[in-house]
Amino acid sequence: MPQDQPDLRDLHDQLDPPDQLDLPHDNSQKVIVALDLSAKQALQVAQALQGAATWMKVGLTLLYETGPSIIRQLKDMGFMVFADTKLNDIPHQIRGAAASLTAAGADMFTVHANGGTEMMRQARLAVQTTADSQKIPRPKLLAITVLTSIDQVMLAEQGVAVSLPEQVSNLAGLAIDAGMDGVVASPLEIQMLREQLGAEPLIVTPGIRSPGADNADQSRVASAAEAFAAGADLIVVGRPITAATDPLQAFHAILE
Ligand code: C5P
Repeated sequence: MPQDQPDLRDLHDQLDPPDQLDLPHDNSQKVIVALDLSAKQALQVAQALQGAATWMKVGLTLLYETGPSIIRQLKDMGFMVFADTKLNDIPHQIRGAAASLTAAGADMFTVHANGGTEMMRQARLAVQTTADSQKIPRPKLLAITVLTSIDQVMLAEQGVAVSLPEQVSNLAGLAIDAGMDGVVASPLEIQMLREQLGAEPLIVTPGIRSPGADNADQSRVASAAEAFAAGADLIVVGRPITAATDPLQAFHAILE
């Protein structure tokens, strides 16, 4: 083994166990606002929510428009930042990407569990070592299991023989064993995953709509209250807030 390549299995065993995010009791602090907008619009929405919202989510569209500087901009406005990076590559690449995202100030980001155990271990190792060396808090790592855009037929096309819920459950288990702090789960998966994973892993849930609201392209939705009751720690809400004429009012309304 080359000298600059530590034995990751040994190192992994030395890592701290996944520490729990200091989860707030106030539900308004558990809403992550998805800024699926241009940079200009995203910053306008963020400004409107300053002092009310705690978390902002930046996805691939915004990240590829601005680069990681958007993370620092939002941090400087006082927000926690969830970078929905959906990383999936060879372990060496993911180690570098995870280190860069940590240095950029992300508080939480996503990796695909089907990238494999070693890839997830490397991500975990990189966030830990980068955060330690820069004396900053370690970002939380969330695993994506099966995207909600994938159905049973597509899974079979990929050669996956088990049912979709089984595959979600397999990948979630793999992710937690590899040191991930939690998973992204659709409203329909929360209860199953909470029962499987226990109380500690984070469950972060998109697909949130107020009862009677326009679902847009989301087919499996729940209200914020239903998601929290099923066991979600944090919820992700985009268009119901960002497309509203008054995003601040809409932010408060989602919790009613
Ligand atoms: O606008 P809306 O509330 O539907 O946005 C939901 C956010 O959650 C988007 O940023 C989307 O990428 C993300 N997401 C999702 N469904 C998943 C996983 C992530 O809608 N299964």
